[in-house]
Amino acid sequence: MILKLHRLNACFLGLFLAAHLINHLLVAFSPTAHIAAMHAMRVVYRNGIIEPLLLGGLVVQLCLGMALIYNRGKPQGRWAWAQVLSGLYIIIFLAQHVPAVLMARWTLDFDTNIWFASAVVSEIPYLLYFAPYYMLAIIAVFTHIAAALYFRGHLPLARALPVIGITWAMAVVISMMLIGPIPAPYNTYLEISFGKTQPNG
Ligand code: HEM
Repeated sequence: MILKLHRLNACFLGLFLAAHLINHLLVAFSPTAHIAAMHAMRVVYRNGIIEPLLLGGLVVQLCLGMALIYNRGKPQGRWAWAQVLSGLYIIIFLAQHVPAVLMARWTLDFDTNIWFASAVVSEIPYLLYFAPYYMLAIIAVFTHIAAALYFRGHLPLARALPVIGITWAMAVVISMMLIGPIPAPYNTYLEISFGKTQPNG
């Protein structure tokens, strides 16, 4: 029952996540196209009915995931470990990512677009934490889906997905790092959050 709900909810959340990750990959080709696509997508995911469903669905998914980990006991085999560890990382990532996005949107005077995400991977020391943080999130999502497919017998796709995830993660995070000088307002975020004192452009 818990597994069925987890899978059903994953299909709903997967629609947002696929759009979100494809949108971030667009940065590698055109930051302008990425921002235009994000504005179009917000009409849907920031909608007064859909956004609470999305955020509530995430919380439910995390709780169901933790219940599955608890019920399963010690994972047996590489794929079981990959499934549990990637799920745990997604939980830890989302517990930081979503509050950070929402708090910035509600309390700071800027748009939470790619400049917001790129600010934290634009210079040392922040990128030492945030570059692996974002890369592992994308790799964890692909690995988690791969493990589910593995247990349903789709072996070639299961083996390919983590490799696609690593490539995707590198393309997204490296293009965020190279996107160019961070506009001044986004330094505010670094100042408020991490005590940064020198503007970086
Ligand atoms: C490189 C990886 C990622 C980057 C750079 C990133 C960046 C962002 C940004 C900039 C926003 C704000 C969007 C807006 O204001 O419209 C956002 C929102 C969000 N992200 Fe991510 N994200 C990444 C990965 C993920 C992953 C892997 C997940 C889920 C597993 C995720 C879940 C969310 C959610 C739920 C929101 C809030 C949507 C809302 O406004 O209600 N993100 N992300």
